[in-house]
Amino acid sequence: MQKILVKDLSEYVGKEVTLSGWLYNKRSSGKLKFLLLRDGSGIVQCVYFKGNVSEEIFEIADKIGQESSIEIKGKVKAEPRSPGGYELDGIDLKVIGESKDYPITPKDHGIEFLMDHRHLWLRSSKQSSILKVRARIVKAIRDFFDNNGFILVDTPILTPAACEGTSTLFATDYFDLGQAYLTQSGQLYAEANAMALGKVYNFGPTFRAEKSKTRRHLTEFWMVEPEVAFADLNDNMNLAEQFLEYVVQTVLKDCETELKTLERDTSFLKNIKAPLPRITYDEAVKILKDNGVDFEWGNDLGGADETIISNQFDRPVMVHRYPAAVKAFYMKRDPENPKLALALDVLAPEGYGEIIGGSQREDSLDLLIERIKEHKLPQKYFEWYLDLRRYGSVPHSGFGLGLERTVSWICGLDHIRETIPFPRMIYRNTP
Ligand code: 4AD
Ligand code: MG
Repeated sequence: MQKILVKDLSEYVGKEVTLSGWLYNKRSSGKLKFLLLRDGSGIVQCVYFKGNVSEEIFEIADKIGQESSIEIKGKVKAEPRSPGGYELDGIDLKVIGESKDYPITPKDHGIEFLMDHRHLWLRSSKQSSILKVRARIVKAIRDFFDNNGFILVDTPILTPAACEGTSTLFATDYFDLGQAYLTQSGQLYAEANAMALGKVYNFGPTFRAEKSKTRRHLTEFWMVEPEVAFADLNDNMNLAEQFLEYVVQTVLKDCETELKTLERDTSFLKNIKAPLPRITYDEAVKILKDNGVDFEWGNDLGGADETIISNQFDRPVMVHRYPAAVKAFYMKRDPENPKLALALDVLAPEGYGEIIGGSQREDSLDLLIERIKEHKLPQKYFEWYLDLRRYGSVPHSGFGLGLERTVSWICGLDHIRETIPFPRMIYRNTP
């Protein structure tokens, strides 16, 4: 007797097989019991006919509770009317672990209830589809960089100083050395690696003590950050658009089933091919004004502004050259206009907002020291970073893509909390 997975049923038509999993749902009709088994790879219906199995098995099939773990034995047959195309004629049924009064039922539960039961909610077909898409996005990201000459580097999570502004730092005591902070971005360390290896990327968890309670903010999220030596802002934009095209098209190709389960309208996603539209911050401000927004030049774009701007385009739009005053200390100024930073944000369509933030980096030692002072950062912790400008400085650029925002957008979700198994947000750090 072969022990198989639901996803492989097509290879076993006419054969008797064993499957292990959990009872997703059940119904009965007279002498028939219909059990839905899910095993992580898919869902299959197993039909038990009273005349074909013992009294005992029929009894178990009747009493068994939702989400009990079970082992079923049955004969595989093609069944065009069932979702996966196959069904089992039940022969045997064993309960591995009982489940009584499973808290999540097919009725509507409020979001807080579901979040409190996140450890169980993950078993639903919507949530598990999201996790599969997430895993595929991660692999596509890695494949893109690995196949394009980038070296993976791992950057530290415990750091002595801020990277993206001091207002969103999580602090922790660090022995006799005072405070350490959970990293907001691996970028500064990626820059050092790029000076050693040329083209690098880091990919890991990052932390922001974000006081924002929005559908786009987590306090712990994953970011992938490429960094390239001898690359300017234009090269950075070329990289970003090729990267996005690869990730989106790969996921569309490989996650058809999951995107269908999520009822994702993929028409916008199919458009995502390089080149992507590029506009300056000035042009973005004009779009806002033309749409009746009372926007003052010099402000950062808010979530609502980003939505208005991205609604003008059918694919992600790259906005570049922001006012330096609203951007991070390490960004290089535009030689044509020192009020501007050579910054780049990519705004996703359909109201998903910023998914990528990046820039060309300041490569002059003197200007970088000035910026560190302006931003009131502790220069002693940046001496190593300044060394990169002291010893063979080169123009270089990079960006960071937020994994969860990307998952949210590709899956078409209402809120970022469903994009990671256990989300961390301002009002939630459990389960
Ligand atoms: O724009 P950010 O802050 O850029 C950086 O951290 C740069 N150091 C990256 C670099 O150039 N290497 O963040 C980059 C991306 C954002 O565009 C967004 O997708 C995501 O990280 N992000 C968040 N995602 C979820 N929750 C939050 N609180 C996020 N903050 C940023
Ligand atoms: Mg940003």
